[in-house]
Amino acid sequence: MASRIKSIAVMTGGGDCPGLNAVIRAVTKTAISKYAMKVWGIEDGFLGLIEKRLHVLGYDDVSNILEMGGTILGSNNTTNPFRYPLVSKAGKVKFKDVSDSCIKTLAAKRIDALVCIGGDGTMTSAAAFAKKGLTVIGVPKTIDNDLWGTDVTFGFDTAVTTAAEAIDKLRTTASSHHRVMIVEVMGRYAGWIALHAGVASGSDCILIPEIPYRLESICRLVQQRSNKGRSYSIIVVAEGAKELGGKMVVRETFVLSPDPIRLGGIANKLAAQIGQRTKLETRAVTLGYIQRGGTPTPHDRILATNFGVAALELLTKGVKNRLVVLRNGKLSSVPLSQVAGKIRKVPKNHPLIMAARAVNTCFGD
Ligand code: F6P
Repeated sequence: MASRIKSIAVMTGGGDCPGLNAVIRAVTKTAISKYAMKVWGIEDGFLGLIEKRLHVLGYDDVSNILEMGGTILGSNNTTNPFRYPLVSKAGKVKFKDVSDSCIKTLAAKRIDALVCIGGDGTMTSAAAFAKKGLTVIGVPKTIDNDLWGTDVTFGFDTAVTTAAEAIDKLRTTASSHHRVMIVEVMGRYAGWIALHAGVASGSDCILIPEIPYRLESICRLVQQRSNKGRSYSIIVVAEGAKELGGKMVVRETFVLSPDPIRLGGIANKLAAQIGQRTKLETRAVTLGYIQRGGTPTPHDRILATNFGVAALELLTKGVKNRLVVLRNGKLSSVPLSQVAGKIRKVPKNHPLIMAARAVNTCFGD
């Protein structure tokens, strides 16, 4: 059956992650070669749509980008078209809904459908556009792995690989100097990266937002290890981890951003506290943006390719306003309206937490 969709636009929104180019490639190649569609690339996420910055993507534009990190389209994690800040000359900020103008921009180019590659912020806007009548398909990205509706997002495996490799390296220097090494990883309000990288690197303690920690438990662990002659300890801490009854550590607040809070700084805080209490030498390392960069792992390239092709298959079957997902190893989709405004946290009884506890990993509780 011939597809009614003749032209699509693709965009990457939110924080970048490895595998974005693999999705752009899969979407564009499938659209052009299998369905003879015209493909537009929107630059810098929803900001580019608001500013009418989009260009036609040809087959050759997406060749040789499968293994490339970042996104050839650019991305942006500070723009919500439904609440776009307009700053007056006097510096006063007024928020305006510019979504109608975005829809007009797409209509003027005769674009029938939008493929939004992004995380929870992008999907919340995508769902709102869908509600206004736009045909939208979402593709789940984020190193944080916290998008509701899917078991996994692309970019996560690469971030975990990068973090685990970094922790392996930190282990040797921690061992030489008999130090307590505290490694802070990203993940926002979910502990997926910390949990997976911590288990993969055999870390002694994993601190995640879902399990508030007690400082005494962590100090007891590193002290006991030291007393037993284990001359160093490795603690992996998610940027969103917090002490029982305490608060997350905020690095920065961007008031104009749809998600203004940027977490960070917990490793330094813990290093000072643990050092003071135990008198052991402590050091803090924040892995930061290195987790979002570089070449996607083969796992992420495959997942991204499958997601991109699945997005096109849904559109050509007349399915719309859904997020492509992987559930129980199978590709499927869920309504965007169900995904909007939610995040997926690590369940406290997750099998990997149970396995980690079985091998004596401390969660600080
Ligand atoms: O969502 C991806 C992510 O890297 C989070 O892990 C982190 O908290 C946040 O983005 C950082 O955002 P920014 O790029 O705005 O500093």
